[in-house]
Amino acid sequence: MAPMAVALILGWCLVAASRAQQLPRPSLSLHPSQGVSLGDNVTLRCHLPRPAAWVELYKEGKWRSRKEMDQEQDAAEFSLTGIKQEDAVRYQCQYQGLEQPGTSEKSDPVELLVTDDRYPPPGISLSPKEHVEMGSNITIQCWNKKYGAAFLLHKDGHSAPIQHQEPDDGGTVTFTLFGVTPADSGTYRCSYRIGGCCLLFSPLGDNVTLEVIPRPAIPGDNGGASRDLVAVVVGRWVAAIVFIIILTISVLLVAQRRQMQSDERPGATSRSPEAVQFQVFPGDSEGLTYAQLQAVTPSTHPHGTSTTPEPPTIYAEVGMGGPR
Ligand SMILES: *[C@@H]1O[C@H](CO)[C@@H](O)[C@H](O)[C@H]1NC(C)=O
Ligand SMILES: *[C@@H]1O[C@H](CO)[C@@H](O)[C@H](O)[C@H]1NC(C)=O
Ligand SMILES: *[C@@H]1O[C@H](CO)[C@@H](O)[C@H](O)[C@H]1NC(C)=O
Repeated sequence: MAPMAVALILGWCLVAASRAQQLPRPSLSLHPSQGVSLGDNVTLRCHLPRPAAWVELYKEGKWRSRKEMDQEQDAAEFSLTGIKQEDAVRYQCQYQGLEQPGTSEKSDPVELLVTDDRYPPPGISLSPKEHVEMGSNITIQCWNKKYGAAFLLHKDGHSAPIQHQEPDDGGTVTFTLFGVTPADSGTYRCSYRIGGCCLLFSPLGDNVTLEVIPRPAIPGDNGGASRDLVAVVVGRWVAAIVFIIILTISVLLVAQRRQMQSDERPGATSRSPEAVQFQVFPGDSEGLTYAQLQAVTPSTHPHGTSTTPEPPTIYAEVGMGGPR
């Protein structure tokens, strides 16, 4: 058991040590990164996460050049002057650690895309039209039968192409924008990759402009119809509720008026509590401090309690003189 545990711990230590020794990968960037044409100058910058003794540049996986470094530099620059067709490829860089021995892995590749202005720009068309309602499907066709190997769709304000596609036999591609929103409004152009060599591209072609109208302006289409339906349903509900409220108020008003009319009959007394007269039945009052009495409003019910199912019950202090 013991030798096995020692071996495991030793193995773990070795793995950890090799991990620690692995140099982090560098990263490569292009300056400028866009709009490079044949004959331009481009700088490739290799960013170093650790001090390096030297940095190497690889072009399509093949060694191209080496730069000796000193401790202060955190990047190495390689210049490409007078870009040619064959420079339009992928690049990577790699470094040798200065304090830490070993060589890093290669960086992620970067593509040097070069425009060759000698090629004609592609044709472009947009359908069904430039002003469309939200939710429409839009197609943008681009073509160049002779040279187009793959097409890119560019939108002004975006650095990278937004779509790319291989052409059909007629050298045409159809880019579709499904269910467009106002965010799809803008200016679109195409370019194509030139068949044969490298990452060479045609110049950008003519523009097409798309304007997406936020809400359908024409009533009667599907969206308008459904909104109209909603409006009708809501309108009916509101009308029904208003009718019920008016009906309730009318009933209450009528009831109140009836009540007032009955109160205003001749001989009626006010409805204030002081005016309620108490009828005390003979014999009940003698010797009692409190008695249960029937409260009767004589004017309203002159013939007793026949129309009043449950007359109110009132406790009253009874004087010794009996009813007045
Ligand atoms: C490219 O660099 C060379 C030498 O550094 C310079 O002579 C030339 O003018 C530059 N070209 C462009 C297009 O900047
Ligand atoms: C847009 O295209 C999709 C997929 O082809 C389709 O289902 C949808 O009905 C289209 N919408 C319109 C408004 O034509
Ligand atoms: C689009 O092209 C037209 C000519 O076809 C031009 O007048 C217009 O300025 C261009 N728009 C943009 C944004 O480049």
